[in-house]
Amino acid sequence: MKKGELVYEGKAKQVYLTDNPDEALVWFKDDATAFNGEKKGTIQSKGVINNAIASFFFKLLDSYRVSTHFIRKIDERAMLVKRLSIIPIEVVVRNIAAGSLAKRLGWEEGRKLSSPVVELYYKDDALGDPLINRSHVAALGIATPERLDVLENTALKINTILMEFLVGRNLLLVDFKLEFGTHKGEILLGDEISPDTCRFWDATTNEKLDKDRFRRDLGNVEAAYQEILKRIGE
Ligand code: TMP
Repeated sequence: MKKGELVYEGKAKQVYLTDNPDEALVWFKDDATAFNGEKKGTIQSKGVINNAIASFFFKLLDSYRVSTHFIRKIDERAMLVKRLSIIPIEVVVRNIAAGSLAKRLGWEEGRKLSSPVVELYYKDDALGDPLINRSHVAALGIATPERLDVLENTALKINTILMEFLVGRNLLLVDFKLEFGTHKGEILLGDEISPDTCRFWDATTNEKLDKDRFRRDLGNVEAAYQEILKRIGE
């Protein structure tokens, strides 16, 4: 497998072509950003840890018949994936109020939600990824109602799978963000599942074991990411 041309560079990952036009190589960086790129930093070994965690979760989801872009982990920092045409919608699922939801509704962080909340954000850096609803999606013409149903239902299924898995590791899944794309007409989960894109709290102490340690300057960021890797048993 040949690592070809760099075709996309995001804040945390690079995407390279391979010798197979249906596949791409995702390379995980140590760079971290927050607040739409305003805060920049590096988290030592983050790329290695997130590649391991994301590879593990993609395999877990595959075992529950959730279709993802993941093919296999190639090395410490890279995974091979199916090439996607990304749907520009970020799907966030929340079980406990935190972050922007706590702020928007004036709720204390840690308030348990009576049922999962699903939110949609328009993936557009220039606009700062604004919160949108179903009619905005229709007006933007970025997904049909049927396709949006698939995204939301898949996100809720993933929530159940991850929550059940993590409860056995003494971890709370507070919230997380997913991205989807299409590959040969099929909708696949893309991007990553990692402490960059999820909030994980220790179930006993509520200690934050995710990117909020970087966003909020709480310290011990790398140790928190390592702890997640250790708890999932990789
Ligand atoms: P929020 O509370 O800041 O809206 O974040 C909700 C979840 O989405 C949280 O688990 C972190 C994740 N997230 C991303 O993966 N990328 C982002 O750019 C943002 C803002 C949040």
